[in-house]
Amino acid sequence: MSPIKKVAIFGAAGNFGTPITAALVKAGFDVTIITRIESTSIFPQRIPVIRTEYTVEKLTAALSGQDAAISVIGPAGISFQTTLVDAAEAAGVQRFVLDDFGWGPGFNSLPEFKSIGAQREVAWKRVKELSQANPKFTFSGIAIGNPIDWALRRFPIMGFDVQKRTAVIYDDGTEEFTGTTLEGIGQAVVGVLKHPTETANRFLKARSIQVNQNQLLDAFQKVTGQKWEVQHGSARDFLESGREKHKGGDRGWVLELLVYQLYAPGDSRCILASREASDADLLEIREETPEDIARKVMSSVGELP
Ligand SMILES: NC(=O)c1ccc[n+]([C@@H]2O[C@H](COP(=O)([O-])OP(=O)(O)OC[C@H]3O[C@@H](n4cnc5c(N)ncnc54)[C@H](OP(=O)(O)O)[C@@H]3O)[C@@H](O)[C@H]2O)c1
Repeated sequence: MSPIKKVAIFGAAGNFGTPITAALVKAGFDVTIITRIESTSIFPQRIPVIRTEYTVEKLTAALSGQDAAISVIGPAGISFQTTLVDAAEAAGVQRFVLDDFGWGPGFNSLPEFKSIGAQREVAWKRVKELSQANPKFTFSGIAIGNPIDWALRRFPIMGFDVQKRTAVIYDDGTEEFTGTTLEGIGQAVVGVLKHPTETANRFLKARSIQVNQNQLLDAFQKVTGQKWEVQHGSARDFLESGREKHKGGDRGWVLELLVYQLYAPGDSRCILASREASDADLLEIREETPEDIARKVMSSVGELP
């Protein structure tokens, strides 16, 4: 497989597309952004942008000459992913990096999440079919588990209100999960493109850390030099209320059931893989400490220099 140099990215200004694009540029890839005609996204200057309709014909032209295509379109655009896959194959792209950046295939999620997973799996199935029919067309998917620094900053329901410096510890706070930081997500994509042979036609498991709530609380207190006010709760309460919300069509169910999955005592559901069993070393993702995470989160909300 020839080395990958020219890389097109979809969703470049999104939550994860932003750090992925920055990591690709920093790693020296020749990056082009492809975006929708109606997009209002703002992109970094100096990166070429192709604005196009998302049809197979138009996207095949947009992808012509690219070695790889990275799909980081958000949930709102996921139904377009098969179109992106078809166009990439038609354009002669060597590697398609699929939009997962979630928990990957085979994850033991609650049944309520099945319909969300099913939308993604349509494109996963398509990319496998095309790569079998055309050996020059390959794919990779990247499972990241919990996007930990991004999620802790955005979602106090994960147990840490970083603005107020308060915490809710669910159950005994010892349930561990794996997470990948925005830095690790960017590096995961770079790692796939730097190791095209080892990463071809499979899903990879990324991780920056394995941690529990008690370790995170200690780290937040250490980096802020302050004792945080702590309350206690039970992850199981979210199972019932999340399921009620799901039945009633209230979108709040997603976060509640995600937090239940993360912290349900004894389940270990959200440990994607041990460091050894993961692809972190292959992808050159560094292991981070709870203090690294706490520092990143507090800095991102302007609470640390
Ligand atoms: N593991 C987790 O817990 C977790 C958390 C969050 C996200 N994710 C996953 O990560 C992936 C990326 O999510 P994200 O949060 O980074 O996405 P996002 O910020 O919501 O959106 C990324 C980009 O998608 C494009 N887009 C939006 N609507 C579209 C549409 N209708 N059709 C086509 N493109 C559209 C836009 O790009 P343009 O404006 O340039 O067209 C947008 O900037 C998704 O698969 C998401 O499910 C996982």
